[in-house]
Amino acid sequence: MAKKTVLVSGGAGFIGSHVTVELISAGHDVVVADNMSNCDMTCFEGVKKITGREDLPFIKMDFCNAAEVDKLFSEYPIDAVIHFAAFKAVGESVEEPVKYYKNNLISFLNVLETASKRGCNVLFSSSATVYGEPDKLPVTEESPRQPATSPYGNTKQICEDILSDTVKATGGKIKGIALRYFNPIGAHPSALIGELPRGVPNNLVPFITQTAIGKRECLSIFGNDYPTPDGTCQRDYIDIVDLAKAHVFAVTRMIDGKMKKDYEIFNVGTGRPVSVLELVNAFEKVNGLKLNYRFAPRRAGDVTAIWADPTLANEEMGWKAERTVEETLASAWAWEKHLAGK
Ligand code: UD1
Repeated sequence: MAKKTVLVSGGAGFIGSHVTVELISAGHDVVVADNMSNCDMTCFEGVKKITGREDLPFIKMDFCNAAEVDKLFSEYPIDAVIHFAAFKAVGESVEEPVKYYKNNLISFLNVLETASKRGCNVLFSSSATVYGEPDKLPVTEESPRQPATSPYGNTKQICEDILSDTVKATGGKIKGIALRYFNPIGAHPSALIGELPRGVPNNLVPFITQTAIGKRECLSIFGNDYPTPDGTCQRDYIDIVDLAKAHVFAVTRMIDGKMKKDYEIFNVGTGRPVSVLELVNAFEKVNGLKLNYRFAPRRAGDVTAIWADPTLANEEMGWKAERTVEETLASAWAWEKHLAGK
């Protein structure tokens, strides 16, 4: 594999910081850019410590500004871009759709415009949300996309289409990959980088760890009357380091000319359904503590169950999720304790 320069947009965030670490350990040069709208420098500093790369390039910039994007590409010899720079709160996107469409679409269009001019490959961070409430489980990449239930979800579908159309229009001069993430959780084993939600967390695992540390009083489990084995929703929780490694496989595949089609889609999940209650029990067991939780009404917009068929990523990219859910939950707890200085 030839060493290449990869731009990570939104690289100071939760997923971007873990991806940066894995790209560097695979021998790539990385340029990190972020507008810092939803994070501080904690994770970027952590990345520098983990990799020993004090000189790691960091550019604070706005991907919605086309001139800034163009300037960035002219200053670094970028071979591929991994695009994370986007808003991601489902509820907020319902309340402020314009903010979501404007930010998530314009930033991606700017990246694509410059990337296609320069012949640079693009990896897009998509989501299992595109499958909606699936008719058949597990979902494969061929499972139909369902109408999005939030503007956030819609931006993921639209960006997938924009990428596919752009790749086609360039006649394959640029290649594109969309990775559909299931539920990323956990933290780096060093506990130097992890998820840093602002305010009250929407996602399950940060809420669990914040309850365990005493920042939140009680976890509400949204719904115990779903048609699942224990009545709580089922998801495919994917370890953040495993997820980050999938990006290295995908980027390598693009850069080394190993793609079978100019635009490809891969599910990034474990293939293992875990219910909310199972996750809570596993968290308690592996970390040796009791969590204060109660059952609450269902949350609007939640699907009953979704998990991946990851066969395509396993066989085509040679990537496979490795960490157990217990290891991942131990890493999430170690990160929460690190944040609390414990
Ligand atoms: C959501 C988004 C998904 C996004 C992901 C990011 C949708 C429909 N979902 O997934 O696109 O990629 O976040 O991580 O767009 N739960 C509780 N109590 C809580 C929080 C959550 O019981 O305090 C339950 C939920 O009801 C759900 C499960 O935990 O069953 C997972 O929830 P969450 O972590 O928010 O992820 P998703 O909603 O699956």
